[in-house]
Amino acid sequence: MRLKLVAGNWKMHGGIERNRDLLSIVISGTAGLQKTACAVCVPYPYLSQVQSLLKNTHVSWGAQNISQHDMGAYTGEVSADMLTDFCCYYVIVGHSERRTLYGENSRTVSLKFKVAQDAGLVPILCVGETLEQREAGFTEQVVREQLDAVIGLVGVDALARSVLAYEPIWAIGTGKTATPQQAQDVHVFIRNIVASYNVKVAAELRILYGGSVKASNAAELFAMLDIDGGLIGGASLVAEEFISICLAAQN
Ligand code: 13P
Repeated sequence: MRLKLVAGNWKMHGGIERNRDLLSIVISGTAGLQKTACAVCVPYPYLSQVQSLLKNTHVSWGAQNISQHDMGAYTGEVSADMLTDFCCYYVIVGHSERRTLYGENSRTVSLKFKVAQDAGLVPILCVGETLEQREAGFTEQVVREQLDAVIGLVGVDALARSVLAYEPIWAIGTGKTATPQQAQDVHVFIRNIVASYNVKVAAELRILYGGSVKASNAAELFAMLDIDGGLIGGASLVAEEFISICLAAQN
């Protein structure tokens, strides 16, 4: 059985005091979780703070992006080794905001995936289509291209040490959630692609759904067979919302 994961993606939100308040409530509110793992992916400047707040707790932490390079003259970039210095467990790669706003393509994303894994980090690989692509019937083609790029570089077995997140771009931050069945259909499609290479890796792969997940819709999404948790944006900044989503994953 796949252990569910609920990961918060704080995006460019946070503050020293606010982080402390949020995380202390999240730690106590999720203390009883049994079959669900819980994590937060925070902006780089807070990694040190979050590490000290979360170490020795059941909540893991990670970053939202990583450089594909090991080191060098890359102003503003952050390497895998730097993330491991702060004991990050996860790093998000290929978030749609990175792809659309910062020009990351599937090749860059797969290099980031590889660099992260080589350093012992667990990449959370995001895939998903735009509204235009969905309406034109290209969802599967888009997701397949994003996934194939990574499998082509690292091989399918590497997915065993990663997490996937299906995040339809039209559902991110819009309040418009994919229906449980829409999400389930794409999750099955993803799992089948992986299964065409390796059935065991596919069966064990955690595929999260992301896009306007809230306390009010989490349970119905997580009830779907192939939805193994969520990648949560806005609702991860509100302690009670995030806790409720974690609890919904457990039930
Ligand atoms: P929202 O939950 O704010 O829609 O964001 C989803 C997301 O992009 C998580 O990575």
